[in-house]
Amino acid sequence: MTTVAIIGGSGLTNLKNLRITRREVIRTPYGEPSAPMVFGQLGGQEAVFLPRHGAGHTIPPHEVNYRANIWAMKQTGVTKVLAVNAVGGISPDYLVSGTLVIPDQVIDYTYGRAHTFFGSEQKKVTHVDFTHPYCEAMRQTVIQAAASAKMKVVGRGTYGATQGPRFESAAEIRRMERDGADIVGMTGMPEAGLARELELCYASISLVVNPAAGKAREAISIREIEKNLESGMASVRALLEQVIPL
Ligand code: HPA
Repeated sequence: MTTVAIIGGSGLTNLKNLRITRREVIRTPYGEPSAPMVFGQLGGQEAVFLPRHGAGHTIPPHEVNYRANIWAMKQTGVTKVLAVNAVGGISPDYLVSGTLVIPDQVIDYTYGRAHTFFGSEQKKVTHVDFTHPYCEAMRQTVIQAAASAKMKVVGRGTYGATQGPRFESAAEIRRMERDGADIVGMTGMPEAGLARELELCYASISLVVNPAAGKAREAISIREIEKNLESGMASVRALLEQVIPL
């Protein structure tokens, strides 16, 4: 039984260390997920991998079918979801590219995304608790795995989820900083909320790939981000190997 899913973000469209056994196109009431689900073994544990932006990295953050992705995971019997997200750094401890963050809070600035399974078709108003948006047990597992591998991670932080696909203005980042956001990305929500609605244990490994807008002297450089994604995702892969079995 596959119990663990990994959602790959930008720079992680495949998991080189996953020993693939099969691929499956899954259909859900919300449409198709971003790509066929890739089943296999990671560090001796059954795992399933899904690239959030599609197998060829073609789906922008605001067009990801988050509901289909999370529903498909639930449907395959997965109980734990570890997401990988590329982010910009906002507050001082999060500015250096390559920093790995295991966020413990989220602020949602996205809009117009299909963000819930609990619409009026449910025929019953349903709310879920989201005080602690990430699964604490999984966060601690990741933090401890990093510590035993002597890998540095920042074990807390507030993820601010923006709409994209453009990056933010400097004033938007200043506002987010006043709000308490430490890192900024475009895919953290509604994913985390949907996982909570389906009672999946969900956490994120967020990789800082640039200082957020206005946090460095220069403008945001896509070339720089791509370079940092490549080196940073090597660390993420190494961390995933330590974390599994989850
Ligand atoms: N802003 C939003 N999303 C991001 C960034 C950023 O600076 N870097 C990587 N994803």
